[in-house]
Amino acid sequence: MELLNQIKEQARKLNRTIVLPEGEEIRTLKATDIILKEGIAKIVLLGDPGKIAHEAEKCGAKIEGAEVINPKTSGKRDTYADMMVEIRKKKGLTREEALEMLNDPLVYGPMMIKAGDADGEIAGAINATGDVLRPAFQFVKTMPGVSVVSGAFMMFLKDKSFGHDGVLVFADCAVMPDPDAQQLAEIAVTTAKTANAIVGMDPKVAMLSFSTKGSAKHDLVYKVAQATKLAKSMAPELKIDGEMQLDAALVKEVGELKAPGSEVAGQANVLVFPGLEAGNIGYKLVQRLAGAEAVGPVLQGMAAPINDLSRGCSVSDIVNMVAITANQAQ
Ligand code: ACO
Repeated sequence: MELLNQIKEQARKLNRTIVLPEGEEIRTLKATDIILKEGIAKIVLLGDPGKIAHEAEKCGAKIEGAEVINPKTSGKRDTYADMMVEIRKKKGLTREEALEMLNDPLVYGPMMIKAGDADGEIAGAINATGDVLRPAFQFVKTMPGVSVVSGAFMMFLKDKSFGHDGVLVFADCAVMPDPDAQQLAEIAVTTAKTANAIVGMDPKVAMLSFSTKGSAKHDLVYKVAQATKLAKSMAPELKIDGEMQLDAALVKEVGELKAPGSEVAGQANVLVFPGLEAGNIGYKLVQRLAGAEAVGPVLQGMAAPINDLSRGCSVSDIVNMVAITANQAQ
């Protein structure tokens, strides 16, 4: 795909350091081989060096160019533990607890980023989303002005007549189970930024609902209408409209009928779902039934790029996500 090639090319220029906490895992090792060969990023693998070397040899992955760190014996443990105690002092985190936590690569990785020893992280090939995200939330935290982290998917459709030359950006599909209006507004604004930064599109953001412009009356509808208002005031320059149904967002004739005069209806390229149930189910429907390629989730709103993989991910998914993460670390 042309866009993914551009993303990889840009990553090569940036030459970022990406930490992979699941360093003993075979798909991660195979991906490391490809990333190093293609010069997409510098890689740090976390885990037991003996185990990593053994697994790499077993699967034929050449990882000599990667830095390998054992979180249990690393010389940075004391520095990171001091930082952790400082960050979580209000929560009463002790030094002993911090040192214990650092044995976990999913904690060590975010601390490398916090200390400036890495630019981004990818994990989730063998760990649940919550376990990848929690340490990131606790130690890397959100970017200034943003209180909520969410997850976007870039959907590469077969039908190029939709979105930005067949690319749509969906959110939130991965993180926030039940956002309130303020959180939904933040998700809309950060997703528009992601769409522009990674896909290079002029974002046209549809705030999705089962109602278009008051056609239904329900608290769930009012929440989306309120979120639309808030997002407009947070980013007045943004093309954002809602609440609207999916057909009004995507189909020109329906958009003109249900939301006449809208600069988004019928031509949306960013779809913001009202909650995680709709977002997570929605992207999988498009992926499975329409045969779209789903790239993500790209986590947005974090102070540094940390991305979560699906446990069913392939080697090329990991390579692509490393390239995307490197681009986010600009
Ligand atoms: N953005 C920023 N910070 C957050 C967020 C968020 N979205 N959610 C929680 N936090 C922070 C909290 O403020 C808290 O910080 P603190 O300890 O400094 O006070 C910390 O993270 C832990 O908060 P909890 O409320 O205890 O969160 P918990 O760990 O229970 O849950 C989680 C967070 C794991 C992300 C939860 O919201 C979740 O499970 N979401 C669904 C993830 C998922 O399963 N997605 C579907 C699969 S992904 C896919 O299919 C691609």
